[in-house]
Amino acid sequence: MNLNTFEPGKEWPDNNGMAINAHGGGILLHEGTYYWYGEHKIEGEAGNRAHVGVHCYASTDLYNWRDEGIALAVSDEPGHDIEKDCILERPKVVFNTSTGKFVMWFHLEKKGCSYDHAGSGVAVADCPTGPFEYRHSFRPNAGAYPRNDCEKLHRPGLVDGGFTGDTPQPRINVAKSNVFARDLEGGQMARDMTLFVDDDGTAYQIYSSEENSTLHISQLSDDYLHSAGNFIRVFENRYMEAPAIFKRDGYYYLIASGCTSWDPNAARCAIADNIMGPWHEWENPCRGVNPQNGFGPDKTFGGQSTFVLPVQGMDDAFIALFDIWRPENAIDGRYIWLPIEFNADRSFNIHWNDAWDLSIFKQA
Ligand code: DGJ
Repeated sequence: MNLNTFEPGKEWPDNNGMAINAHGGGILLHEGTYYWYGEHKIEGEAGNRAHVGVHCYASTDLYNWRDEGIALAVSDEPGHDIEKDCILERPKVVFNTSTGKFVMWFHLEKKGCSYDHAGSGVAVADCPTGPFEYRHSFRPNAGAYPRNDCEKLHRPGLVDGGFTGDTPQPRINVAKSNVFARDLEGGQMARDMTLFVDDDGTAYQIYSSEENSTLHISQLSDDYLHSAGNFIRVFENRYMEAPAIFKRDGYYYLIASGCTSWDPNAARCAIADNIMGPWHEWENPCRGVNPQNGFGPDKTFGGQSTFVLPVQGMDDAFIALFDIWRPENAIDGRYIWLPIEFNADRSFNIHWNDAWDLSIFKQA
């Protein structure tokens, strides 16, 4: 079978005819080949926890994906950080040109925990397809203050009040407690996350922190194995999840979601001319309706962002990647890939499209 279109929301077979199993994923382009890493889910509700590991697929055309197997396997060893039945979400892989290592980061909750640990796991490999070796997990930026908001955070008591947007009541009232200060010593919470490598090789982790109320954009150490202690707090009390980031024409763009568990909500987007801010939030970029479920922009076509992929050899070509979650039968989660269309004022839109191909972009 040779595929030559993207059909968002439809089952997407790999080279063996099996549905691609790489949820909450991200893509690395390395030496002309794309590698897609994502959560391998199993059937049923149990499939929302990690029973297998991080699955890897390879492609040179973005339509047809070869199964490269499990790049990072969960452990059978009792008490291991990534013991089978942990929560291992949103894995992303970057390549460090100085060390020659492939480095994977993911959101980790140890076995038996709910979402409260909110740690970051790191694994390393010599080959893009793995095997990745688990290194460590931690909460980022222990003991460090952000570049912005410092004065406010030194004050005992309050992080500024109120939360906005389409977000259900948080479990703790972040408006009344200084969550940042609470976590200063042990490190900041990091749930939904992505990685981004800038043109100069500096890498960043972008993660939902402070009980999901606020995003952090955090520089990684030169070897990409740790957080560097240089970070900003952004979109305070906006409860953004599912961050995806890309750079176009010197500007940084963010796509994210609100915070409604596995249910879809309206996408968010923002722009900055410096990754360390200031960031300016724009309106929901999505347009149109997914006829498969009737969901439009207020529900991101039934999906939640996970990554934005720059396409090699094409001019101004970026694909927005979303997951349709099926928490009752996790393995049946689907993917929405849609082209990003830019406007003259640098804003962008993402229109629903039943079937499309790369000819939508201009050849470079
Ligand atoms: C939404 C997040 O974006 C997902 O990665 C996952 O953590 C679910 N919440 C869990 O409810």
